[in-house]
Amino acid sequence: MELEQAEEIIGRLYSQVSGHAIAHAEKKRMGREEDSTTYGEVKPASLQMLLSQVSPREGESFIDLGSGMGQPTLVAAMLFPFRRLVGVELLTGLGDAARQALSRYDAEIRPQLPELHQRQSIEFLDGDLLEADISGVDVVFAQAPCFEAGLMAKLAAKLETLKSGARLILVGQQLASPSFTLLTMKVMRANWGTSLTWLYQHK
Ligand SMILES: C[S@@+](CC[C@H](N)C(=O)[O-])C[C@H]1O[C@@H](n2cnc3c(N)ncnc32)[C@H](O)[C@@H]1O
Repeated sequence: MELEQAEEIIGRLYSQVSGHAIAHAEKKRMGREEDSTTYGEVKPASLQMLLSQVSPREGESFIDLGSGMGQPTLVAAMLFPFRRLVGVELLTGLGDAARQALSRYDAEIRPQLPELHQRQSIEFLDGDLLEADISGVDVVFAQAPCFEAGLMAKLAAKLETLKSGARLILVGQQLASPSFTLLTMKVMRANWGTSLTWLYQHK
């Protein structure tokens, strides 16, 4: 699928919802006022550029750690030949919005897509990204500029458990680990501004 078509579909699926409003209400309701749960959305074109850098191959898996309303996961599904895609989000209301968008995607979009995209497994899970199973994942995306130091330290330790060859797109934070090779550095564009992004491969 071309980027423009994916952008149009995302615009349609999410036209009635505001991630910022949902995140604001959910942070209050769940008592999660920490900076780590600051909301923001990567632009589809920017995600496409970042994912292209790590050359996703047919059959590989993708996870978005802190998946918000799920746009990056759906964009990754439409533009790349992933077999399995998962989004993990702490704020339940954002996860609900992601699952609603996925229901519409399944009903209105997926049946018209090529076979490979019809067979993709896409899932949005509620919970802490630190509890997510990343052991078999091939491509990890985390828009992490607001992740606090404590969360980042634990995430860095967890990323050590990735399999050899897994690629990591880490927005707004750098890893200082000898077990990752730095592939390149790029600028990510989001609906709130831009952020430096480090792309790694696990040795
Ligand atoms: C900047 S937003 C990015 C949303 C989406 N990935 C995107 O790029 O459009 C970061 C998300 O991470 C979530 N988050 C923060 N800490 C988390 C944690 N410990 N576990 C799961 N999600 C978390 C926030 O609630 C927020 O929705």
